Amino acid sequence: MKKTKVALLYGGRSVEHGVSVNSARNIAEFIDKSRFVIIPIGITQQGVWYLTETVTRNIRGGKRLQANLDPQHPWLTDGSRRIKFDIAFPVLHGTDGEDGSIQGFFKSLSVPLVGTGVLGSALSMNKIVAKRLLRESGLPVADFVPLHFHDARPSYDEVKAKLGSPFMVKSASLGSSVGVTKVNSKGDFSKAVKEAFRYDHELLFERYVKGREIECAILGNDPPKASLPGEIIISKKYDFYTFDAKYVDSKAVSIEVPAKLSAAHMERIRELSVRAFTTLKCEDYARVDLFLSDEDELYVNEINTIPGFTNSSMYPMMWKERGISFTELITRLIELSAKRHEASARIEREFNSSLNY
Ligand SMILES: Nc1ncnc2c1ncn2[C@@H]1O[C@H](COP(=O)(O)OP(=O)(O)O)[C@@H](O)[C@H]1O
Ligand SMILES: [Mg+2]
Repeated sequence: MKKTKVALLYGGRSVEHGVSVNSARNIAEFIDKSRFVIIPIGITQQGVWYLTETVTRNIRGGKRLQANLDPQHPWLTDGSRRIKFDIAFPVLHGTDGEDGSIQGFFKSLSVPLVGTGVLGSALSMNKIVAKRLLRESGLPVADFVPLHFHDARPSYDEVKAKLGSPFMVKSASLGSSVGVTKVNSKGDFSKAVKEAFRYDHELLFERYVKGREIECAILGNDPPKASLPGEIIISKKYDFYTFDAKYVDSKAVSIEVPAKLSAAHMERIRELSVRAFTTLKCEDYARVDLFLSDEDELYVNEINTIPGFTNSSMYPMMWKERGISFTELITRLIELSAKRHEASARIEREFNSSLNY
């Protein structure tokens, strides 16, 4: 059988660059090598593409890439030879990689792509847009107040009057807790706003939900399937699930898969997660993050269209618990995407009309 060539995109012009390298390294290690050949493509912090021998943090050590922009015969070149591939697998977190930009680039070249496409990526990446759509679909989200950089700034007391105290301040379109602050008192306020605006033109203030952090893995289309939920239990040392708690301090969290929940909660979380996935036009896979409050209320917090694949990542762990190994999971993602692409190739792109142009 001819092996499928998978362009594995990693790194990226994002604050989550390093996380992406760790995720992609794992995928390169565990992918079924009897069926797939990996073509590692590293994108630097400045957005320059390189062909690298393996997934490495030394992206510049590779060969610089250029693209041939012909949807009939798309290929990349390192200057000396054409690099052809069958499918693109972006393992990029955050800006450009997870927000629809890279997805649009490959779509315009008719290259099949693993995971959510342009619309779903863009919707899910922006926390304000995503929460509005989720709320409109009847899904529970925590109260929030959006703010654009050019808007009149509310005072701490005004936000507190609307959302109570403490409350969260978040950049609208980021991940890995970058630009996220818990505001416990007036003294934290302006620094938190400044921090969130460092990374985006928009932020949101959000009601603090005291409770448990629950995640649910979604796999597949028509219909998407939900794993059993897992729980992230964060050490008391941290005020919330910060960047350091996520990636730096290996003792910061303990993970429970499946989470200790009643059967009714399990079912409700799985149902909400599938609905969030379809509402936000996600494809192939995603991780839905929720809160279960101390008052026993569930809230959908966010949906990650390219969840982490690092050694400590929940997404592969939740499927492992369901009997799907990391290797099998990667195979399924590639197969789901290929099947979708076949179906979309049937859509007409031409319309015969008498229009003069
Ligand atoms: N409304 C909230 N109530 C309580 N904690 C929150 C709330 N929103 C975010 N957090 C905390 O901040 C973390 C990061 O926020 P999140 O919205 O998930 O952004 P990111 O996309 O950066 O992961 C969450 O995992 C949680 O620990
Ligand atoms: Mg999160």
